[in-house]
Amino acid sequence: MSADSVRIGLLGCGTVGRAVVRMLDEHGDTIERASGHRLEIGPILVRTPGRSRPGIDPGLLTDDPARVLDDPGVGIVVEVMGGIDPTLDYLRRALESGKPVVTANKQLLSREGPRLFEMAERSGTELRFEASACAAIPVIKVLRESLLAAEIRAVTGILNGTTNYMLTEMARGGLSYEASLAAAQRRGYAEADPTEDVNGADAAAKLAILSSIAFHTRVRFDDVPFAGIDELSAEDVAHAAELGFAVKLLADARLVDGGVSASVAPMLVPLGHRLAAISGADNAVLLESGTAGEIMLVGPGAGGSETASAVVSDVLSILGTHRGSFLHNALADAGRPLLGEDQVESAYYLRLSVADRPGVLASVASIFGEEELSIRTVVQKGEGSEARLVLVLHRGSSAAFRRAVRRVALLDDVHETPVVLRVLGAGAGG
Ligand SMILES: NC(=O)c1ccc[n+]([C@@H]2O[C@H](COP(=O)([O-])OP(=O)(O)OC[C@H]3O[C@@H](n4cnc5c(N)ncnc54)[C@H](OP(=O)(O)O)[C@@H]3O)[C@@H](O)[C@H]2O)c1
Repeated sequence: MSADSVRIGLLGCGTVGRAVVRMLDEHGDTIERASGHRLEIGPILVRTPGRSRPGIDPGLLTDDPARVLDDPGVGIVVEVMGGIDPTLDYLRRALESGKPVVTANKQLLSREGPRLFEMAERSGTELRFEASACAAIPVIKVLRESLLAAEIRAVTGILNGTTNYMLTEMARGGLSYEASLAAAQRRGYAEADPTEDVNGADAAAKLAILSSIAFHTRVRFDDVPFAGIDELSAEDVAHAAELGFAVKLLADARLVDGGVSASVAPMLVPLGHRLAAISGADNAVLLESGTAGEIMLVGPGAGGSETASAVVSDVLSILGTHRGSFLHNALADAGRPLLGEDQVESAYYLRLSVADRPGVLASVASIFGEEELSIRTVVQKGEGSEARLVLVLHRGSSAAFRRAVRRVALLDDVHETPVVLRVLGAGAGG
Protein backbone atom coordinates (compact mmCIF):
# COMPACT_ATOMS: atom_id res chain seq x y z
CA MET A 1 0.00 0.00 0.00
CA SER A 2 1.14 3.54 -0.71
CA ALA A 3 1.70 5.97 2.19
CA ASP A 4 -1.63 7.69 1.47
CA SER A 5 -3.81 4.63 1.19
CA VAL A 6 -6.70 4.10 3.60
CA ARG A 7 -8.24 0.70 4.21
CA ILE A 8 -12.03 0.52 4.44
CA GLY A 9 -13.31 -2.36 6.58
CA LEU A 10 -16.89 -3.33 5.83
CA LEU A 11 -19.45 -4.79 8.20
CA GLY A 12 -21.96 -6.37 5.80
CA CYS A 13 -21.99 -7.05 2.10
CA GLY A 14 -25.62 -7.20 1.02
CA THR A 15 -27.56 -4.83 -1.25
CA VAL A 16 -25.83 -1.71 0.05
CA GLY A 17 -22.44 -3.27 0.85
CA ARG A 18 -21.98 -4.65 -2.66
CA ALA A 19 -22.93 -1.26 -4.13
CA VAL A 20 -20.40 0.45 -1.86
CA VAL A 21 -17.62 -1.91 -2.99
CA ARG A 22 -18.57 -1.35 -6.65
CA MET A 23 -18.61 2.43 -6.22
CA LEU A 24 -15.28 2.52 -4.42
CA ASP A 25 -13.79 0.30 -7.16
CA GLU A 26 -15.21 2.25 -10.06
CA HIS A 27 -14.53 5.71 -8.67
CA GLY A 28 -11.23 5.03 -6.91
CA ASP A 29 -9.34 7.46 -9.17
CA THR A 30 -11.84 10.29 -8.61
CA ILE A 31 -11.74 9.70 -4.86
CA GLU A 32 -7.96 9.73 -4.91
CA ARG A 33 -7.88 13.01 -6.85
CA ALA A 34 -10.44 14.54 -4.48
CA SER A 35 -9.06 13.36 -1.18
CA GLY A 36 -5.44 12.53 -1.82
CA HIS A 37 -6.07 8.99 -0.57
CA ARG A 38 -6.14 5.67 -2.36
CA LEU A 39 -8.88 3.49 -0.84
CA GLU A 40 -8.30 -0.20 -0.28
CA ILE A 41 -11.31 -2.41 0.44
CA GLY A 42 -11.61 -5.15 3.04
CA PRO A 43 -11.78 -7.17 5.15
CA ILE A 44 -15.57 -7.57 4.83
CA LEU A 45 -17.67 -9.14 7.59
CA VAL A 46 -20.61 -11.32 6.51
CA ARG A 47 -22.55 -14.19 8.07
CA THR A 48 -21.80 -16.62 5.24
CA PRO A 49 -18.36 -15.99 3.73
CA GLY A 50 -18.60 -19.20 1.66
CA ARG A 51 -21.46 -17.84 -0.48
CA SER A 52 -20.34 -16.50 -3.85
CA ARG A 53 -20.84 -12.77 -4.40
CA PRO A 54 -20.19 -11.54 -7.95
CA GLY A 55 -17.66 -8.70 -8.02
CA ILE A 56 -16.39 -9.39 -4.50
CA ASP A 57 -12.99 -10.95 -3.90
CA PRO A 58 -13.80 -14.03 -1.74
CA GLY A 59 -10.43 -13.60 0.01
CA LEU A 60 -11.75 -10.41 1.64
CA LEU A 61 -14.80 -12.08 3.22
CA THR A 62 -14.78 -13.21 6.83
CA ASP A 63 -17.26 -14.14 9.54
CA ASP A 64 -14.84 -12.98 12.25
CA PRO A 65 -15.66 -9.40 13.34
CA ALA A 66 -12.20 -9.05 14.94
CA ARG A 67 -10.63 -9.12 11.48
CA VAL A 68 -12.33 -5.80 10.74
CA LEU A 69 -12.51 -4.27 14.21
CA ASP A 70 -9.12 -5.19 15.64
CA ASP A 71 -7.01 -4.78 12.49
CA PRO A 72 -4.87 -1.66 13.01
CA GLY A 73 -4.61 -1.42 9.22
CA VAL A 74 -8.33 -0.67 8.89
CA GLY A 75 -8.69 3.14 8.76
CA ILE A 76 -12.48 3.53 8.45
CA VAL A 77 -15.29 1.12 9.32
CA VAL A 78 -18.37 1.14 7.09
CA GLU A 79 -21.39 -0.56 8.73
CA VAL A 80 -23.99 -1.81 6.26
CA MET A 81 -25.13 -4.96 8.03
CA GLY A 82 -28.15 -3.50 9.85
CA GLY A 83 -29.77 -4.54 13.15
CA ILE A 84 -28.99 -3.45 16.69
CA ASP A 85 -27.35 -6.45 18.29
CA PRO A 86 -24.41 -7.17 17.79
CA THR A 87 -24.02 -4.07 15.59
CA LEU A 88 -24.00 -1.57 18.47
CA ASP A 89 -21.18 -3.49 20.16
CA TYR A 90 -19.17 -3.63 16.91
CA LEU A 91 -19.49 0.12 16.41
CA ARG A 92 -18.49 0.77 20.02
CA ARG A 93 -15.34 -1.32 19.48
CA ALA A 94 -14.54 0.53 16.25
CA LEU A 95 -15.04 3.98 17.77
CA GLU A 96 -13.11 3.13 20.95
CA SER A 97 -10.16 1.98 18.90
CA GLY A 98 -10.18 5.32 17.08
CA LYS A 99 -11.63 4.12 13.77
CA PRO A 100 -14.09 6.58 12.19
CA VAL A 101 -17.43 4.90 11.49
CA VAL A 102 -19.89 5.38 8.62
CA THR A 103 -23.25 3.69 9.07
CA ALA A 104 -26.47 3.37 7.03
CA ASN A 105 -28.37 1.86 9.95
CA LYS A 106 -31.54 3.82 10.75
CA GLN A 107 -32.83 1.29 13.30
CA LEU A 108 -29.63 1.61 15.31
CA LEU A 109 -29.27 5.37 14.97
CA SER A 110 -32.88 6.11 15.85
CA ARG A 111 -32.79 3.88 18.94
CA GLU A 112 -29.20 4.06 20.16
CA GLY A 113 -28.07 7.33 18.54
CA PRO A 114 -27.43 9.13 21.85
CA ARG A 115 -25.19 6.27 23.07
CA LEU A 116 -23.33 6.20 19.77
CA PHE A 117 -22.84 9.99 19.81
CA GLU A 118 -21.44 9.72 23.35
CA MET A 119 -19.07 6.91 22.33
CA ALA A 120 -17.85 8.94 19.35
CA GLU A 121 -17.38 12.02 21.51
CA ARG A 122 -15.56 10.14 24.27
CA SER A 123 -13.15 8.57 21.81
CA GLY A 124 -12.79 11.73 19.69
CA THR A 125 -13.72 9.72 16.60
CA GLU A 126 -16.03 10.60 13.73
CA LEU A 127 -19.42 8.94 13.33
CA ARG A 128 -21.28 9.68 10.08
CA PHE A 129 -24.70 8.38 9.07
CA GLU A 130 -25.97 10.22 5.99
CA ALA A 131 -27.39 7.02 4.47
CA SER A 132 -29.55 6.33 7.51
CA ALA A 133 -32.22 8.79 6.36
CA CYS A 134 -33.34 9.34 2.75
CA ALA A 135 -30.45 7.44 1.09
CA ALA A 136 -29.06 9.59 -1.74
CA ILE A 137 -30.54 12.90 -0.50
CA PRO A 138 -27.76 14.66 1.45
CA VAL A 139 -30.16 16.02 4.05
CA ILE A 140 -28.04 15.29 7.12
CA LYS A 141 -25.03 17.04 5.63
CA VAL A 142 -27.20 20.03 4.72
CA LEU A 143 -28.62 20.16 8.25
CA ARG A 144 -25.38 19.67 10.10
CA GLU A 145 -23.13 21.75 7.89
CA SER A 146 -24.90 24.12 5.48
CA LEU A 147 -27.82 25.03 7.76
CA LEU A 148 -26.14 24.58 11.13
CA ALA A 149 -26.92 28.14 12.20
CA ALA A 150 -30.08 28.63 10.14
CA GLU A 151 -32.56 28.17 13.04
CA ILE A 152 -34.46 25.19 11.65
CA ARG A 153 -38.06 25.46 12.84
CA ALA A 154 -39.65 22.51 11.05
CA VAL A 155 -38.74 19.37 9.14
CA THR A 156 -41.62 17.96 7.12
CA GLY A 157 -41.10 15.10 4.76
CA ILE A 158 -42.14 12.16 2.72
CA LEU A 159 -39.55 9.81 4.16
CA ASN A 160 -40.82 6.47 2.89
CA GLY A 161 -40.75 5.75 -0.84
CA THR A 162 -42.79 2.53 -0.66
CA THR A 163 -45.84 4.22 0.82
CA ASN A 164 -45.50 7.27 -1.40
CA TYR A 165 -45.51 4.98 -4.43
CA MET A 166 -48.59 3.19 -3.08
CA LEU A 167 -50.43 6.45 -2.37
CA THR A 168 -49.57 7.73 -5.86
CA GLU A 169 -51.02 4.55 -7.36
CA MET A 170 -54.12 4.76 -5.15
CA ALA A 171 -54.71 8.36 -6.27
CA ARG A 172 -53.91 7.92 -9.95
CA GLY A 173 -55.29 4.52 -10.69
CA GLY A 174 -57.90 4.21 -7.96
CA LEU A 175 -56.08 1.08 -6.73
CA SER A 176 -57.03 -0.43 -3.41
CA TYR A 177 -54.48 -0.56 -0.59
CA GLU A 178 -53.84 -4.26 -1.30
CA ALA A 179 -53.44 -3.75 -5.07
CA SER A 180 -51.09 -0.81 -4.60
CA LEU A 181 -48.96 -2.85 -2.17
CA ALA A 182 -48.79 -5.70 -4.68
CA ALA A 183 -47.75 -3.17 -7.38
CA ALA A 184 -45.01 -1.78 -5.10
CA GLN A 185 -43.73 -5.32 -4.46
CA ARG A 186 -43.70 -6.11 -8.21
CA ARG A 187 -41.66 -2.94 -8.87
CA GLY A 188 -39.17 -3.84 -6.11
CA TYR A 189 -40.19 -0.82 -3.94
CA ALA A 190 -41.58 -2.92 -1.11
CA GLU A 191 -39.87 -5.68 0.87
CA ALA A 192 -41.46 -9.12 1.15
CA ASP A 193 -42.32 -7.99 4.70
CA PRO A 194 -43.43 -4.36 4.25
CA THR A 195 -44.74 -3.93 7.83
CA GLU A 196 -42.35 -1.13 8.90
CA ASP A 197 -42.96 0.80 5.70
CA VAL A 198 -46.76 0.72 5.74
CA ASN A 199 -47.24 1.17 9.48
CA GLY A 200 -45.09 4.31 9.59
CA ALA A 201 -42.24 2.90 11.75
CA ASP A 202 -39.61 3.35 9.01
CA ALA A 203 -40.55 7.02 8.54
CA ALA A 204 -40.60 7.52 12.33
CA ALA A 205 -37.04 6.16 12.64
CA LYS A 206 -35.83 8.55 9.95
CA LEU A 207 -37.70 11.47 11.52
CA ALA A 208 -36.06 10.77 14.88
CA ILE A 209 -32.64 10.99 13.22
CA LEU A 210 -33.44 14.14 11.22
CA SER A 211 -35.02 15.98 14.12
CA SER A 212 -32.08 15.15 16.40
CA ILE A 213 -29.80 16.92 13.94
CA ALA A 214 -32.19 19.73 12.98
CA PHE A 215 -33.06 20.75 16.55
CA HIS A 216 -29.75 19.84 18.20
CA THR A 217 -31.50 17.61 20.69
CA ARG A 218 -31.91 13.91 21.36
CA VAL A 219 -35.02 12.51 19.66
CA ARG A 220 -35.41 8.74 19.77
CA PHE A 221 -37.66 6.41 17.80
CA ASP A 222 -39.77 5.88 20.95
CA ASP A 223 -40.42 9.64 21.14
CA VAL A 224 -42.15 9.70 17.74
CA PRO A 225 -45.80 8.56 17.66
CA PHE A 226 -46.57 7.05 14.29
CA ALA A 227 -49.49 5.83 12.20
CA GLY A 228 -49.24 4.34 8.75
CA ILE A 229 -51.35 3.89 5.65
CA ASP A 230 -52.35 0.30 6.43
CA GLU A 231 -55.84 1.38 7.42
CA LEU A 232 -56.33 3.91 4.68
CA SER A 233 -58.98 3.20 2.06
CA ALA A 234 -58.93 4.13 -1.63
CA GLU A 235 -62.27 5.83 -1.04
CA ASP A 236 -60.73 8.43 1.28
CA VAL A 237 -57.90 9.05 -1.17
CA ALA A 238 -60.55 9.69 -3.87
CA HIS A 239 -62.63 12.00 -1.63
CA ALA A 240 -59.49 13.94 -0.71
CA ALA A 241 -58.66 14.40 -4.42
CA GLU A 242 -62.16 15.71 -5.13
CA LEU A 243 -61.67 18.25 -2.36
CA GLY A 244 -58.29 19.37 -3.77
CA PHE A 245 -55.92 17.35 -1.57
CA ALA A 246 -53.35 14.62 -1.99
CA VAL A 247 -52.98 12.09 0.82
CA LYS A 248 -49.33 11.72 1.88
CA LEU A 249 -47.65 9.82 4.69
CA LEU A 250 -46.01 12.83 6.29
CA ALA A 251 -43.28 12.89 8.89
CA ASP A 252 -43.42 16.22 10.65
CA ALA A 253 -41.23 17.62 13.40
CA ARG A 254 -41.31 21.22 14.57
CA LEU A 255 -40.37 23.51 17.39
CA VAL A 256 -43.39 24.50 19.43
CA ASP A 257 -42.85 26.82 22.40
CA GLY A 258 -39.25 25.66 22.68
CA GLY A 259 -40.20 21.96 22.64
CA VAL A 260 -40.10 19.47 19.79
CA SER A 261 -43.32 17.98 18.41
CA ALA A 262 -42.68 15.02 16.09
CA SER A 263 -45.06 12.52 14.53
CA VAL A 264 -45.79 10.43 11.43
CA ALA A 265 -49.30 10.04 10.00
CA PRO A 266 -51.20 10.08 6.72
CA MET A 267 -52.26 13.68 6.10
CA LEU A 268 -54.20 15.66 3.53
CA VAL A 269 -51.91 18.03 1.64
CA PRO A 270 -53.38 20.80 -0.56
CA LEU A 271 -52.69 19.96 -4.22
CA GLY A 272 -50.80 23.24 -4.70
CA HIS A 273 -48.34 22.41 -1.89
CA ARG A 274 -44.84 21.39 -2.94
CA LEU A 275 -45.04 18.09 -1.08
CA ALA A 276 -48.24 17.14 -2.95
CA ALA A 277 -46.24 17.03 -6.20
CA ILE A 278 -43.83 14.35 -4.93
CA SER A 279 -44.96 11.20 -6.68
CA GLY A 280 -43.77 7.62 -7.01
CA ALA A 281 -41.00 6.24 -4.81
CA ASP A 282 -39.23 9.57 -4.27
CA ASN A 283 -38.54 11.06 -0.86
CA ALA A 284 -38.68 14.77 -0.08
CA VAL A 285 -37.74 16.87 2.92
CA LEU A 286 -38.97 20.42 3.41
CA LEU A 287 -36.87 22.41 5.86
CA GLU A 288 -38.28 25.60 7.33
CA SER A 289 -35.64 27.89 8.67
CA GLY A 290 -35.76 31.23 10.45
CA THR A 291 -32.95 32.69 8.40
CA ALA A 292 -32.79 30.74 5.12
CA GLY A 293 -36.49 30.40 4.30
CA GLU A 294 -37.87 27.13 2.98
CA ILE A 295 -35.56 24.60 1.38
CA MET A 296 -36.79 21.39 -0.19
CA LEU A 297 -34.62 18.39 -1.02
CA VAL A 298 -36.01 15.64 -3.26
CA GLY A 299 -34.60 12.35 -4.52
CA PRO A 300 -34.48 8.60 -4.20
CA GLY A 301 -34.77 7.48 -0.60
CA ALA A 302 -33.71 3.85 -1.01
CA GLY A 303 -31.87 1.45 -3.26
CA GLY A 304 -28.41 -0.09 -3.20
CA SER A 305 -26.48 2.40 -5.33
CA GLU A 306 -28.43 5.40 -3.98
CA THR A 307 -27.62 4.43 -0.40
CA ALA A 308 -24.02 3.63 -1.34
CA SER A 309 -23.70 7.14 -2.74
CA ALA A 310 -24.43 8.56 0.72
CA VAL A 311 -22.05 6.09 2.37
CA VAL A 312 -19.23 7.01 0.01
CA SER A 313 -19.96 10.70 0.54
CA ASP A 314 -19.48 10.17 4.30
CA VAL A 315 -16.19 8.34 3.66
CA LEU A 316 -15.08 11.32 1.56
CA SER A 317 -16.11 13.75 4.30
CA ILE A 318 -13.91 11.85 6.75
CA LEU A 319 -11.00 11.72 4.34
CA GLY A 320 -11.46 15.33 3.33
CA THR A 321 -10.87 16.52 6.85
CA HIS A 322 -7.77 14.35 7.21
CA ARG A 323 -4.29 15.64 6.54
CA GLY A 324 -5.52 18.88 5.04
CA SER A 325 -6.83 17.36 1.79
CA PHE A 326 -9.18 19.62 -0.12
CA LEU A 327 -12.01 18.08 -2.05
CA HIS A 328 -12.51 20.87 -4.50
CA ASN A 329 -9.02 21.69 -5.80
CA ALA A 330 -7.69 18.46 -7.16
CA LEU A 331 -11.03 17.43 -8.60
CA ALA A 332 -11.42 20.66 -10.49
CA ASP A 333 -9.33 19.37 -13.37
CA ALA A 334 -10.52 16.05 -14.63
CA GLY A 335 -9.27 17.11 -18.09
CA ARG A 336 -12.70 16.87 -19.74
CA PRO A 337 -13.25 18.63 -23.08
CA LEU A 338 -15.75 21.51 -23.00
CA LEU A 339 -18.45 21.07 -25.62
CA GLY A 340 -19.80 23.88 -27.77
CA GLU A 341 -23.54 24.40 -28.04
CA ASP A 342 -23.64 22.74 -31.46
CA GLN A 343 -22.02 19.56 -30.17
CA VAL A 344 -24.99 18.53 -28.04
CA GLU A 345 -28.48 17.34 -28.82
CA SER A 346 -31.65 19.05 -27.72
CA ALA A 347 -35.37 19.29 -28.37
CA TYR A 348 -36.63 22.68 -29.55
CA TYR A 349 -39.69 24.93 -29.72
CA LEU A 350 -39.97 27.18 -32.78
CA ARG A 351 -42.48 29.95 -33.47
CA LEU A 352 -42.81 31.37 -36.98
CA SER A 353 -44.87 34.19 -38.46
CA VAL A 354 -45.80 32.98 -41.90
CA ALA A 355 -48.07 33.88 -44.81
CA ASP A 356 -51.39 32.07 -44.42
CA ARG A 357 -51.05 30.12 -47.67
CA PRO A 358 -51.21 26.39 -48.43
CA GLY A 359 -47.85 24.67 -48.66
CA VAL A 360 -45.95 26.77 -46.07
CA LEU A 361 -45.98 24.06 -43.45
CA ALA A 362 -44.88 21.50 -46.03
CA SER A 363 -41.87 23.67 -47.01
CA VAL A 364 -40.87 24.10 -43.37
CA ALA A 365 -41.35 20.40 -42.63
CA SER A 366 -39.29 19.34 -45.61
CA ILE A 367 -36.34 21.47 -44.45
CA PHE A 368 -36.41 19.80 -41.04
CA GLY A 369 -36.76 16.40 -42.74
CA GLU A 370 -33.69 17.08 -44.89
CA GLU A 371 -31.76 17.90 -41.71
CA GLU A 372 -32.97 14.61 -40.18
CA LEU A 373 -34.99 16.35 -37.48
CA SER A 374 -38.49 15.19 -36.68
CA ILE A 375 -41.42 17.30 -35.63
CA ARG A 376 -43.33 16.26 -32.53
CA THR A 377 -46.18 18.81 -32.52
CA VAL A 378 -47.44 21.51 -34.87
CA VAL A 379 -50.01 24.17 -34.10
CA GLN A 380 -51.13 26.60 -36.82
CA LYS A 381 -53.28 29.64 -36.10
CA GLY A 382 -54.50 32.01 -38.81
CA GLU A 383 -54.60 35.78 -38.15
CA GLY A 384 -55.87 37.33 -41.41
CA SER A 385 -53.24 36.96 -44.11
CA GLU A 386 -50.68 36.02 -41.48
CA ALA A 387 -50.48 32.79 -39.51
CA ARG A 388 -48.57 31.63 -36.47
CA LEU A 389 -46.83 28.30 -36.88
CA VAL A 390 -45.63 26.75 -33.62
CA LEU A 391 -43.54 23.58 -33.82
CA VAL A 392 -41.99 21.39 -31.16
CA LEU A 393 -39.21 19.17 -32.46
CA HIS A 394 -37.99 15.90 -31.08
CA ARG A 395 -34.47 15.74 -29.71
CA GLY A 396 -31.85 16.03 -32.41
CA SER A 397 -28.57 17.63 -33.39
CA SER A 398 -28.41 21.28 -32.31
CA ALA A 399 -26.15 22.09 -35.26
CA ALA A 400 -28.68 20.59 -37.69
CA PHE A 401 -31.49 22.49 -35.96
CA ARG A 402 -29.68 25.81 -36.30
CA ARG A 403 -28.98 25.10 -39.99
CA ALA A 404 -32.63 24.27 -40.54
CA VAL A 405 -33.82 27.45 -38.77
CA ARG A 406 -31.47 29.59 -40.90
CA ARG A 407 -32.95 27.97 -44.03
CA VAL A 408 -36.52 28.35 -42.78
CA ALA A 409 -35.93 32.06 -42.02
CA LEU A 410 -34.94 32.60 -45.67
CA LEU A 411 -38.26 31.26 -47.03
CA ASP A 412 -40.31 34.03 -48.69
CA ASP A 413 -43.37 33.05 -46.69
CA VAL A 414 -41.62 33.39 -43.31
CA HIS A 415 -41.89 36.98 -42.21
CA GLU A 416 -40.29 37.63 -38.83
CA THR A 417 -37.21 36.31 -37.13
CA PRO A 418 -38.13 32.84 -35.82
CA VAL A 419 -38.44 32.51 -32.05
CA VAL A 420 -36.42 29.57 -30.76
CA LEU A 421 -36.50 28.04 -27.26
CA ARG A 422 -34.92 24.84 -26.02
CA VAL A 423 -37.20 22.18 -24.56
CA LEU A 424 -36.08 20.37 -21.43
CA GLY A 425 -35.81 16.70 -22.30
CA ALA A 426 -34.30 13.47 -21.04
CA GLY A 427 -30.54 13.39 -20.68
CA ALA A 428 -27.78 15.98 -20.89
CA GLY A 429 -28.15 18.91 -23.19
CA GLY A 430 -31.97 18.73 -22.84
N1 LIG B 1 -31.33 -1.48 0.94
C1 LIG B 1 -31.64 -0.19 0.98
O1 LIG B 1 -32.23 0.37 0.05
C2 LIG B 1 -31.25 0.63 2.18
C3 LIG B 1 -31.51 2.02 2.19
C4 LIG B 1 -31.10 2.80 3.29
C5 LIG B 1 -30.49 2.20 4.35
N2 LIG B 1 -30.29 0.83 4.36
C6 LIG B 1 -29.64 0.25 5.52
O2 LIG B 1 -28.41 -0.34 5.14
C7 LIG B 1 -28.14 -1.49 5.95
C8 LIG B 1 -27.90 -2.69 5.04
O3 LIG B 1 -29.03 -2.91 4.25
P1 LIG B 1 -29.00 -4.01 3.06
O4 LIG B 1 -30.28 -3.81 2.32
O5 LIG B 1 -27.71 -3.95 2.34
O6 LIG B 1 -29.09 -5.38 3.91
P2 LIG B 1 -28.82 -6.87 3.41
O7 LIG B 1 -28.91 -6.95 1.92
O8 LIG B 1 -29.68 -7.76 4.23
O9 LIG B 1 -27.28 -7.15 3.81
C9 LIG B 1 -26.85 -7.29 5.14
C10 LIG B 1 -25.41 -7.77 5.11
O10 LIG B 1 -24.91 -7.81 6.44
C11 LIG B 1 -24.46 -9.13 6.77
N3 LIG B 1 -24.86 -9.38 8.17
C12 LIG B 1 -26.06 -9.18 8.72
N4 LIG B 1 -26.05 -9.52 10.03
C13 LIG B 1 -24.79 -9.94 10.29
C14 LIG B 1 -24.14 -10.42 11.46
N5 LIG B 1 -24.77 -10.53 12.62
N6 LIG B 1 -22.84 -10.76 11.36
C15 LIG B 1 -22.18 -10.66 10.18
N7 LIG B 1 -22.74 -10.18 9.04
C16 LIG B 1 -24.03 -9.85 9.10
C17 LIG B 1 -25.15 -10.06 5.80
O11 LIG B 1 -24.33 -11.22 5.62
P3 LIG B 1 -24.74 -12.39 4.58
O12 LIG B 1 -24.49 -11.77 3.22
O13 LIG B 1 -23.82 -13.49 4.85
O14 LIG B 1 -26.17 -12.65 4.83
C18 LIG B 1 -25.22 -9.18 4.54
O15 LIG B 1 -24.02 -9.24 3.82
C19 LIG B 1 -29.36 -1.62 6.88
O16 LIG B 1 -29.08 -0.97 8.09
C20 LIG B 1 -30.46 -0.88 6.15
O17 LIG B 1 -31.45 -0.36 7.02
C21 LIG B 1 -30.64 0.06 3.29
